[in-house]
Amino acid sequence: MDATVSMEKGAASAPFYLSQGDECDVFEAAHRNGLPVLLKGPTGCGKTRFVAHMAARLGSKLYTVACHDDLAAADLIGRYLLKGGETVWVDGPLTRAVREGAICYLDEVVEARKDVTVVLHPLTDDRRTLPIDRTGEELMASPGFMLVASYNPGYQNILKTLKPSTRQRFLSLEFDFPPADLETEVVCEESGLDHDRTASLVRLAGKLRALKGQDLEEGVSTRLVVYAATLIAQGMPVGRAIEAAMIEPLTDDEDVKRGLLDLVTAVFG
Ligand SMILES: Nc1ncnc2c1ncn2[C@@H]1O[C@H](COP(=O)(O)OP(=O)(O)OP(=O)(O)O)[C@@H](O)[C@H]1O
Ligand SMILES: [Mg+2]
Repeated sequence: MDATVSMEKGAASAPFYLSQGDECDVFEAAHRNGLPVLLKGPTGCGKTRFVAHMAARLGSKLYTVACHDDLAAADLIGRYLLKGGETVWVDGPLTRAVREGAICYLDEVVEARKDVTVVLHPLTDDRRTLPIDRTGEELMASPGFMLVASYNPGYQNILKTLKPSTRQRFLSLEFDFPPADLETEVVCEESGLDHDRTASLVRLAGKLRALKGQDLEEGVSTRLVVYAATLIAQGMPVGRAIEAAMIEPLTDDEDVKRGLLDLVTAVFG
């Protein structure tokens, strides 16, 4: 199968997720009512973690599909495969989720081809059906089925955006980097680094994010702050950890890098 698919069973203990607002309530209400949800936000701000957390909390199985521009509808729905001389139908992750009443999470959905989004339409309105042309089946979504998609509006270009007819089938939740006190809590929990040193890293992240749109295409993600904190917690010198985790990943431009290192000095002295 082309698609990168992973499947997790709802675990008793949900992965750690610190909420920033009422997103858990909205997701739960959507799940109860079988409404699809679209998560928008920059890279590394917690979208995937949120879905993993909610699926576990709701005791739902989760099928995750990383979308890319080669992903065909058959990668989601299924295809006939040769098995021991016989041709057998094998469900794709979307079909499995529809049959089992699970959550199907399409990551970076704008990357998917148009024929994929067309497949989603009857599933994301009140029909809640998945027509499988190849087998002639028309599946009704089982209770508990929910479609979740995410994308990063920052990468969006004129060609890669969701059509209004697709976009307006989803409830939408906007994600962003959390306020400093919450982000510090997240990074402490994820890395095990002490509060004070974590708070300094988060302060630096705030300064780096302020450069988005000028020198930097994207601000530093919470994911990268977690990386830096993890390295420091394990004994790496602060300067080296910051360079490897919070400067180098942001740019290849030497002048810009020097400017960013000046910010590090401003925060850490
Ligand atoms: N609110 C949060 N609660 C717990 N962990 C968080 C939170 N926000 C971010 N993180 C941390 O940041 C990391 C990156 O988050 P995640 O992988 O969910 O980002 P994403 O929004 O899915 O990014 P991408 O768009 O690149 O896929 C997580 O592994 C986790 O360590
Ligand atoms: Mg993700």
